[in-house]
Amino acid sequence: MTIDWQRVHEQFPINRRLTWLNNCGISAMPGPVLARLQAHLQAMAEGGVTGVPSEVAVHDSARARLSRLIGADQDELTLIHHTAEGLTFISHGLDLAPGDRLVLMEHEYPSNVYPWQHWQDRGVQLVFAPLADTPEQFLAGLRPLLQPPTRVVSLSAVHWCTGLPLPLVEIGKLCAERDVLLVVDGAQGVGLVDIDVRAAGIGAMAFSAWKWLLGPIGLGAMYLRRDLIDRLRFPFKGTGSVIDDHNHLPYRDALKPGADRYVLSTPNYNDWVHFDASLEYLEGLGFAAVRGRIRTLAARLSDLLRAAGWSLASDAFPAQANGIVAAARQGLDAPKLVTRLQQHGVVGAARLGRLRLSPHVYISEEQLDRAASLIVAQAA
Ligand SMILES: Cc1ncc(COP(=O)(O)O)c(C=O)c1O
Repeated sequence: MTIDWQRVHEQFPINRRLTWLNNCGISAMPGPVLARLQAHLQAMAEGGVTGVPSEVAVHDSARARLSRLIGADQDELTLIHHTAEGLTFISHGLDLAPGDRLVLMEHEYPSNVYPWQHWQDRGVQLVFAPLADTPEQFLAGLRPLLQPPTRVVSLSAVHWCTGLPLPLVEIGKLCAERDVLLVVDGAQGVGLVDIDVRAAGIGAMAFSAWKWLLGPIGLGAMYLRRDLIDRLRFPFKGTGSVIDDHNHLPYRDALKPGADRYVLSTPNYNDWVHFDASLEYLEGLGFAAVRGRIRTLAARLSDLLRAAGWSLASDAFPAQANGIVAAARQGLDAPKLVTRLQQHGVVGAARLGRLRLSPHVYISEEQLDRAASLIVAQAA
């Protein structure tokens, strides 16, 4: 199927005002998603929850779409609020002992650091694998850390500052050989790079909806491999955790068998509808086509900046370059440049001294060309 990317561009209201190049921060809403949400809210206003699909139906629909995307079973997925929440559920459910080691990554986003820190109070060592320039270098730095007493490794699929994609399949193999649990922060990965949880031997993953998945702010998802759902301690119990939860009395103890036990009580249902609509939209385009389009746009932007003398973090890993363009030049004041660009309607971010730009499918070639000229002029 050929996709009319110009039509996609026209479907996004944000393009009327801005050139939004911060999709790995917070992305923009597609017009068809806006239309579905408007219709949903109208139906809610007129008929309350009787006029709209049930919570369970919407949850199942979104989980089914996510399961196809990451190669999990639907029951191994649940909607949550954000990455930090998912990693908190996972971290507090583990059974580690004093002397065990937990491996994270240097300069990791806090949502994949803070939820693990409580283990330090219980004698577990937190170690940070060095941030590398290439996936191979990262693997070489990680390998020695995977020896006993390491029990858990929790890593981002893609680094939020440089766009470095981690070689998850290779990491998963090393972890499986050493009986180490691989946990993934998928916030920058899901939707941007191809992640198959089985192929990569991922035990658990949490991610946010509002980045590459074009979903609502404050919603996310968590994947727990079947055996982990039963193995993780579940020190929480809410109305929604037990089977047949819509019948409130008599109280009961039997937990839902799937990951949906983590929806502790009444969910933010409208956001579920929003997320389901975003996933439907992306599925309609095809996730492979989406990833390809993002890469094509990012490559164009990278070429333009490189031609103007900028260096790119992805120059160290050209074969795996993705949608995060982390660019620098001599003397760059990245925060100042971001402010100036925004004054001209171009939205990016500053990370680790670089200008970070992340186009999504709806950005046009013309927008990129104009943005690149503006960047070069404003950084001078
Ligand atoms: C690697 C990574 N993890 C997580 C997040 C978001 O965290 P949360 O979903 O807890 O808000 C981000 C946001 O930039 C991120 O880059």
